[in-house]
Amino acid sequence: MMPTLFVLNGPNLNLLGLRETHIYGKETLEDIKKACLEAGARRQLKLDFRQTNYEGELVEWIQEARTAADAILINAAAYTHTSVAVHDALRAFDGYKVELHISNPHVREEFRHHSYVSYAVDAIVAGLGTPGYGLAVDMIGERLAGRHS
Ligand code: DQA
Repeated sequence: MMPTLFVLNGPNLNLLGLRETHIYGKETLEDIKKACLEAGARRQLKLDFRQTNYEGELVEWIQEARTAADAILINAAAYTHTSVAVHDALRAFDGYKVELHISNPHVREEFRHHSYVSYAVDAIVAGLGTPGYGLAVDMIGERLAGRHS
């Protein structure tokens, strides 16, 4: 059976390519999804790519992953900095978890320096731009194939 990876995206990421392109670049979420699906196919992962603007929906998807996924790649966007609920849901997921940010929040406004997500994940990818998604999927694929500990 192919391992399943949930790629979960939080609020405003549906506006990628239109919003603050000097920070997030010109690629759209559709472009990112395509790159993730390609990397997933290379790594023999079943990939489920989603975006929501609602905190509760993000929490429900993380809960769903408990029985439906082997790993989560999450860009919780603004909820990274505010959501104990997302943190708690991630804690309850036993699989491999990676936090992702397109930008590097640590060189931006101070309110972005703290992440509730970071306490609950195995690894963090930040500041690589939109290509970070494909690279993270590659790395998670390697990990799930048992090639890295
Ligand atoms: C982001 C960084 C967050 O601080 C911000 O709220 C986002 C996007 C990123 O991908 O760089 O919406 O998660």
